[in-house]
Order: sequence, then structure tokens, then C-alpha cells
Amino acid sequence: TRTQVAIVGAGPAGLMLSHLLSRSGIDSVVVDIRTREEIATTSRAGILEAGSVRLLVDSGVSDRVVAEGDRHDGVVLRFDGENHRIDFRDLVGESVWLYPQTEVFIDLAARRTADGGDVRYGVADTAVDITGDRPVVTFADADGRAVRVEADLLVGADGSRSICRRALPDGVRTEWFREYPFAWFGFLTDAPQSHPELIYARSEHGFALVSQRTPTMQRMYFQCSPTERVQAWDDDRIWAEMRKRVNGNGFELREGPIGARTVLPFRSFVTAPMRHGRLLLAGDAAHTVPPTGAKGLNLALADVRVLHEVITEFFARGREDVLDTYGDRALDRVWKAQHFSYWMTTMLHSAEGVSAFDRERQRAELSLVTGSRHGAAYLAEAYTGWA
Ligand code: DHB
Repeated sequence: TRTQVAIVGAGPAGLMLSHLLSRSGIDSVVVDIRTREEIATTSRAGILEAGSVRLLVDSGVSDRVVAEGDRHDGVVLRFDGENHRIDFRDLVGESVWLYPQTEVFIDLAARRTADGGDVRYGVADTAVDITGDRPVVTFADADGRAVRVEADLLVGADGSRSICRRALPDGVRTEWFREYPFAWFGFLTDAPQSHPELIYARSEHGFALVSQRTPTMQRMYFQCSPTERVQAWDDDRIWAEMRKRVNGNGFELREGPIGARTVLPFRSFVTAPMRHGRLLLAGDAAHTVPPTGAKGLNLALADVRVLHEVITEFFARGREDVLDTYGDRALDRVWKAQHFSYWMTTMLHSAEGVSAFDRERQRAELSLVTGSRHGAAYLAEAYTGWA
């Protein structure tokens, strides 16, 4: 098979790119080792920046995000037992939408199917070769048939364990990496909402996040050890931990039976260049952020927006040098999001062995961010997404 753009990874980044390219008359083949069902049921973050929502709606993916998603005009930072609201609309005139990444995927997958897009889920033995004139992707399709796709361009949108990233020759790549001494324990619960907006809570027992999914199902997280095992936590133990970190001064979480639970890895990672020859990386294949602030999906969609422009120009003008502009344009936002995710993380989490000085400094930081209009606007602008 020949196509203009081969895309590895059918998550939101790969599918959104395929969708935008098809609207520009450029064809693509998308492959993913996961089945459509697997991608649609893997819990991910739930917050979309205003710009991500506009991209979904304006490019004709779906209106479901505005019809069924929840607009959030602010978030709560909770510390020392008190809630402090950051009012996005008042501060920067923007909002975010609570609309789970799995729903974004479902909308994109449905749109690609309706438009006759070539998306191969559930493939095996995917390999990429960028050593020839044109990139090649080989794989066994869901029926076990060997397939070879030759393309003008190859896009790696295949997540943090990207095989495309590894196709870049050694010595070409620079990587920046940061680990954190904790992780998140995430779970779903059948319970009513505890609060109309998200609560990011700092406590002496560690961080907790109260988020939502539907009127009867909630999503919550609490800081844990990176080696934590989900089997060690039954419902009672989870709620006891959440209560210690969030309840107090008249505020109480509304509890219910706990469903799916996972321990989320926590790291910051950036690789450059994002383009080498005819290979381009997008989303988690090129960078990973810790989950605090929910930037991962938003950043992937921002990459794809730039990538779509660059690829369209490449085919229109037949010039390879336009591909050079991709990395610099994308990395500017990538590093801003890296800083924001790192900053939110360190401001709200507690690390073992942290000095008394750092604890007091952290408290002062929270009081500056919530007590000053300028401090709050800094958070609001970053959270809703830089223009
Ligand atoms: C959610 C996840 C996040 O990492 C975050 O910062 C906010 C919300 C969520 O899953 O709802």
C-alpha cells in the first residue's frame, strides 16, 4: 500500500491528525497495536483546554463535547483545610471542559469511520524503517496478514513507549528527563459529586484530586508511592486516605463503591528533534508530562494543529524545509506545559524528607497563587491554555 502520511498510533493525536489531513485532501493510513475497544476503555485525564474544544468542534469532529461535556469556569486549590477558588472566566475570560479523553477518542474514531478513513486497530509486529527514500511501516493486520505501507511522511503518535522515536539514529536525539518520588493512585467511584468543580488538595498526608465524570460517577486520585500496588487498597482504605487529605472544616467527600483503580506513572520527558528526515513525532511520543494539570492530551492536540499546517504546506509546495519549522513551533508550547505541570506538581505534593523550610515556602506559594489576582491569573492562563 502507498499513502501520503503513515501514522503510527490511533490515540487522539494520530486520529486528529488523520482527520485534519483528510479535510485538506491528504490521505493517511493509521495503525495501532491496541484494539478500538482497548483505547476506548483506558481511563485517561478529563480536562480539555478551550483551544482543544474549539479544534474538536470547528474541524467537525463532534459537538458532543459542548453538548455533553461540562464547562468549568474555575478550579479549587485546597490547603490548610480551606478551599480557594481560581475563577478562570473572571481572570482570563476562558474556561475548560470536563470531557474524558476516552470520549474524545470515541468521537474521533467515529468521525474517521464515517469519513472512510483508513485506520487499522489491533495490528501486531509493527515496525518502521526510515533508512530508505520513503518511510515504510510494516505490520500484521488484525487478520494476521502481513502489510507494508510506504509513505511520503511518517508520523509517530505512538505514545511514551514510541517505536518511532527509537527509529531516530543514536546521536541525533537529545532527551530531557525528570523523575518524581511519587505517583498517583486513580480510581472511579459510583457516588454523587462532592463539589461542582475540581479540587486540587494539598495536605500533610499528601496530595489528592477530586474530579468528576458523570452526575453518578466520580474520578479521584491521591498521591502514592511509585511502587504502590492496587491490590493493597480496598474501598475502606482508599476512602480513609481520601478523608484524611480532603475532609475538614465542614467539607466532606461523598463516598460510594469504588471501581477501576490504577497507579499512574509520574515523569517529565522531552525529546528533540521532533523531526528527523521524513519522520515527525507528536504527543507523548515526543514528550510526557506528569498528570497534575491535565496537559498531556491538550499538548498532543496542539502538536497536531501545528503538524497539520506544516504537512499541508509540505505537500502544497513540495519542499522539505518547511518540515524544519515544526519542532521549534511545537517545542515552545511543550516547554511551557512542562514547566506548568512540574510547577503544579511541586506546589501541591509532599515529598518524604522535605525540609521544614520547603514546607513553609510551599504554603507561601499557594497563598500567593490564591491570594493575589496576578498569581491566580498566572495559573488560570496556563490551566485554560496559552493563546
Ligand atoms: C483529571 C486528571 C488530571 O490529571 C487533572 O489535572 C484534572 C482532572 C481527570 O481525570 O479528571
